[in-house]
This record gives sequence, structure tokens and C-alpha cells, in this order.
Amino acid sequence: MNAQALGSLNDLDPNYPVPRVYDFLADPANSAMLDYVYNDPFGCHVFPGDIEGYPLGQFFQDMNQEIGQARQIHLWAYIPTCRYRCHFCQYPTVILNPKAPSSQQVFTDVVDYNIKEASLWLQKVPALAHAQVGEFNIFGGTPSLLPEAELRRLMAFYRSHFNFDEATLRFEGEPGTLNKPYLSLLKELGFTKISFGAQSFDDRIISACGRMHSAQECVDTIEYARAIGLEWVSVDLIYGMLGQAVDDVKYDMEKTLELDLSHVVIAKLHMEEFMKTRTGVSGERQSHWQRKGLINIGDMTFPGLGKQYQMRELVEQYLAPRYHERPTMYFHQQHQPRKNGKG
Ligand SMILES: C[S@@+](CC[C@H](N)C(=O)[O-])C[C@H]1O[C@@H](n2cnc3c(N)ncnc32)[C@H](O)[C@@H]1O
Ligand code: SF4
Repeated sequence: MNAQALGSLNDLDPNYPVPRVYDFLADPANSAMLDYVYNDPFGCHVFPGDIEGYPLGQFFQDMNQEIGQARQIHLWAYIPTCRYRCHFCQYPTVILNPKAPSSQQVFTDVVDYNIKEASLWLQKVPALAHAQVGEFNIFGGTPSLLPEAELRRLMAFYRSHFNFDEATLRFEGEPGTLNKPYLSLLKELGFTKISFGAQSFDDRIISACGRMHSAQECVDTIEYARAIGLEWVSVDLIYGMLGQAVDDVKYDMEKTLELDLSHVVIAKLHMEEFMKTRTGVSGERQSHWQRKGLINIGDMTFPGLGKQYQMRELVEQYLAPRYHERPTMYFHQQHQPRKNGKG
């Protein structure tokens, strides 16, 4: 294993500096650490997991007490539908054609279940009804697939059952569906923040990860959003993807600065299983790239560990003068408030 890990660390782009961590990881005394990072841990995203021997009733009671004392809470609703499955993604999602007549019932069910679950939480943790919501986020999957009537129904439920007096509303979508009319609908419903995945601003890389939108659609979404007064736009990028070179990440960083993005999330591609790492971006199954053995397609390969560190250093070099990083991978412009939560 270590020979493989060392080979991956030595996969370097000669046009960029050797990463700072190279000497440390190449030292045989640190081979355990090299194995650890080669195995793709996500470090910053390890959640504590379940506490054993903590009875559910006690959990609800403690939660009720803590929420009763909190100044504000953040409330998130998860909508698990997507119109395609990205090759890297291990989030639990339902893939459907949003235009198909049979999908309409799925959207209705998804909203019904969401309301049912939120109602159960309200029953078990009554303090939730009164706590001031700081940020309300509709997160996915791809919530921007929700038909207008279903989105209105969902919002009417949350507004009438939770304390939205001071709430800021944020919505997550995907560039192909966060179009002009949908952004106007969000604005009308009171949303002021949007987030979406671009993953890269290069069409070749976007399509290699199975996404069905173009880089131009990402730019259009940002521009339309700003044109109607949605200034707070957060874009997700990934480094370490199939076919991605250090030069491609340089291009993404140049684009990030050119577009003057207020917030950007720059994650390392993560392919470990959820049960090993308990991270939000890993699944119980392998990603499509692993399942299908698509580790090399034509002239496309995954960048090794050395190149991944070169990419990460490039991100820091480009963004440090204008952005703060909230450890790790959440960047916001220095005059902007930091972003709460993930994604
Ligand atoms: C759940 S997705 C929601 C965004 C929206 N569905 C989209 O794709 O535009 C949130 C973000 O998680 C990140 N993500 C998903 N799977 C990942 C993985 N395996 N490794 C790193 N980041 C990942 C992507 O950047 C993605 O945009
Ligand atoms: S990255 Fe986004 S669009 Fe792609 S499958 Fe995951 S949730 Fe769906």
C-alpha cells in the first residue's frame, strides 16, 4: 500500500511548486500518515456520530431544553430529488425527470413527508416552534426541481409553524434549473441567499462528472441572481476530479476572482464510504466512478495526492488576499459574514 501511496504523492505537476507537506509525507518515518491521507479521509468533516446508551426520550428532552435557551437556531429542510446522478456524489437522492407526469406525485410525496417529519419534531421538541430561526435553508439534492405549487406549500408550512421573524432564507439548487423564472420565484418567497454546485468552470470536467449543465449556465445563474438583488451566492467547487489538472484548478480560481463570488466552497473530491467516516458527502455505496471502474477514461485520470496538494495550495494562494477560510474549505470574502453550516 505504501508504495502506491508514495507513487500517488509523487504524481506532481512540474510546472507548480512541490507542495509544502511533501517532505513530511515522503519521510518513511511518517508512512502511517501518508497511508492515512492516501486513503482519502476528509478530516474536517467527521461528525461525532451517535452516543451509545443515550435514550431517545432523554435526547428529545435535552434538545428541547437547549433549544429553549438558544438565542437562534438554524433550520434546514432536505429535498432529496435530482434530475441526474453526478458520478462523484453519494448523497441519498431520488433521480427523476422533473417534467415527467409521474414525477409530480413524487414531488407531492416529498413535500408531504418533509412536513410530516417536521411536525413530528415539533411534537417531540415543542421549543422548536418558538425558537427564533436565524437561517432557514432548503438544501438538497436539488430543491430547485420542486414545482412552484409544492415550494409554496412547503414554505407556507414552515412560515406558519416556526418563528421566522428574524430568519434569513437560503435555497440550494443546481445551475441548469436555477433559471431566471425560478430565481424570481425565490425572491418573491423571501429568499436572499442561494447556493449551487458548479464543481468546475470547465465544460470538459463538468461533463466528465456526469453533470448536465454548462459552465455558462453557472455564470448566467450568478448574473441573473445579482440582477434581481440576490447578492449572496455561494458556489461549490471540487478539486481532485477525473481529468482535472492543476492548471484547471488555476482556471477555476481565476474565474472565482473574476466573478467576485461572495462565498465559495472548495472541497477535495471525497470517495470514502459513509460508514467509515460519517461525513455528509460520502455514501453507503461507492460512487459511480468507483462502481463502474471508470478510474481512467481515455486520456483522463484522477490526479494523485501530490497534484491534489498542489491544487489545494493554489486555492490558498489565489484566495488568501481576498477571502477568509473558515476551516476548512468554506471561503467568504473578507467583508462578508461567514457562512453557517455546510454545503
Ligand atoms: C448535495 S450537493 C447539492 C448541490 C446541488 N445538488 C448541485 O449539485 O448543484 C452539495 C455539494 O456537495 C459536494 N459534493 C458532493 N459529493 C461530493 C464528493 N464525493 N466529494 C466532494 N464534494 C462532494 C458538491 O460540490 C456539491 O455541489
Ligand atoms: S451533486 Fe447535486 S445534482 Fe449531483 S447528484 Fe449530488 S445532489 Fe444531485
